[in-house]
Formats: sequence, C-alpha cells, structure tokens
Amino acid sequence: MNPAKRRTVIAGNWKMNFTPAQAKEFIKNVTPLVAGKDNCDIIFCAPYVTIAAAMEAAEGTNIKIGAENVHFAPKGAYTGEVSAEMLRAIGVEYVIVGHSERRQYFAETDETVNLRTKAALAAGMKVILCLGEVKEERLAGITDEVVGMQTKLDLAGITAEELKNVIIAYEPVWAIGTGLTATPEQAQETCAVIRKVVAGLYGEEVAEGVTIQYGGSMNDANAAELLAKPDVDGGLIGGASLVPEKFAAIVEAAQ
Ligand code: PGA
Repeated sequence: MNPAKRRTVIAGNWKMNFTPAQAKEFIKNVTPLVAGKDNCDIIFCAPYVTIAAAMEAAEGTNIKIGAENVHFAPKGAYTGEVSAEMLRAIGVEYVIVGHSERRQYFAETDETVNLRTKAALAAGMKVILCLGEVKEERLAGITDEVVGMQTKLDLAGITAEELKNVIIAYEPVWAIGTGLTATPEQAQETCAVIRKVVAGLYGEEVAEGVTIQYGGSMNDANAAELLAKPDVDGGLIGGASLVPEKFAAIVEAAQ
C-alpha cells in the first residue's frame, strides 16, 4: 500500500452466493467489525438480485455495494444482461469487469471487457478491472507479457481522466479459489509491472495514482504481508468475503 499516493480498496466479490436475506444478515454482522476503519474503501460486489437488499442494509455505514458485471450496450436484445444505466438507476457506484470467471466460463474477451469498462465509466461508475495470467503462462515465464497485453487492450481508448475511476485488480487465475496465493513478492512484482505499463500509456504521475489490488485466495492469514508491499493497494476477495470475521481481519490489515 502507499496511502500517500493512492486509496487502498478492500473489495469483496461474493460471486454466485447470498440471497437478499442472506446478504442483509451478512452486512448486519460485518458492519460493527469494520466500523470506523477509514483507511480503506470497503466494497462488496453482489449478484444483481441481491444488490438492493445489501444496499439497504449498508445504508449509513462505511460499506458500499457494487455489481459483479455490466453489459456494454445501453439496452436491447441481450437476454440475461444488465446495463450500466440500470445499475446507476439503483445507485450502484462500483462494478467488477473482466473477472477471470467471466473470461473462462462466459467467453469474455479483452475486447468485450474493454467495451464493458467504457460503458460503466460513461455511466459514471467506478470499475474494478480484473486481469491476470493462467498457470501455464506463469510457468512459461510470460506473465509480464500477458498482464501487459491485457492492461493495454482492456484500457484501450480510456482517457487519463476516466482512469481515475478505474481500479485494477491483479488476479493470477491459478490463485483464485484454489487456496494457492501468490507470494507477496510475486504479487508486488506483477502489480509493479502493471503500474509500469499504465505509466507507459498515461505517464508516471497518473500511474502512481492508480489503485492496483491483488486478488486470489487473499485471506485473514496472508493479507497483512501482501498489503505491506508498496504496489499492492488492496484486495479483491472471494471466499474470505463470505465470512464477516475473515473479511474484517483483511480490512484491519489495511489500517
Ligand atoms: P478467492 O477469489 O479470494 O476466492 O480466490 C478472488 C476473486 O475471484 O476475486
């Protein structure tokens, strides 16, 4: 983290978990554990049908509720999708785009990730843009090239002004939901590579202001050493974001 230069963001990604009632219960339980922890932004990204209930429960707290995806078209024949305008209409400020599960299971590409990012930004939302290498790419020694290419393609056409509303989440795919965490050194190294690529696109000063999270089996036990690294500005947390005490411990590590 480098709080002098950029905001630390601890975000939960609930994925396909929690009914509206379960989300309310979760928010009720986690609220006292993270109250007053103002050295980071705290966000939970929820399934579409759960967002409104979670927002209601989080009203008046330091917790914000986001979405897990958004479509790029303003409206139309896209069965099952939700537009940026729809999310804005219910007060959603944050949205995850490009999660590796979307890329893996739902055929999203850097091109659609870029389009979704642009649509969310145009609607005035803040985007948590996910990218990261798969295991074969890390083993082949091409992690830097892969994340560099994703960064360039996913941010294509996005202005420096718009970039202020983009958080990048570096998520090595081999670490997601596997219990395998990148070492703090690996996380630092690749987050720094991403920042360097951003600097190449937008200049050093802009790049220094961008929040770059790490995600992939971050939990209460490993968060402190990951967050101690200068280019790891927070976390995107799956499994551990479903357990109030575990998530609160990560928030504590960011204080
Ligand atoms: P995990 O998920 O913490 O369960 O590995 C992280 C993510 O997918 O964002």
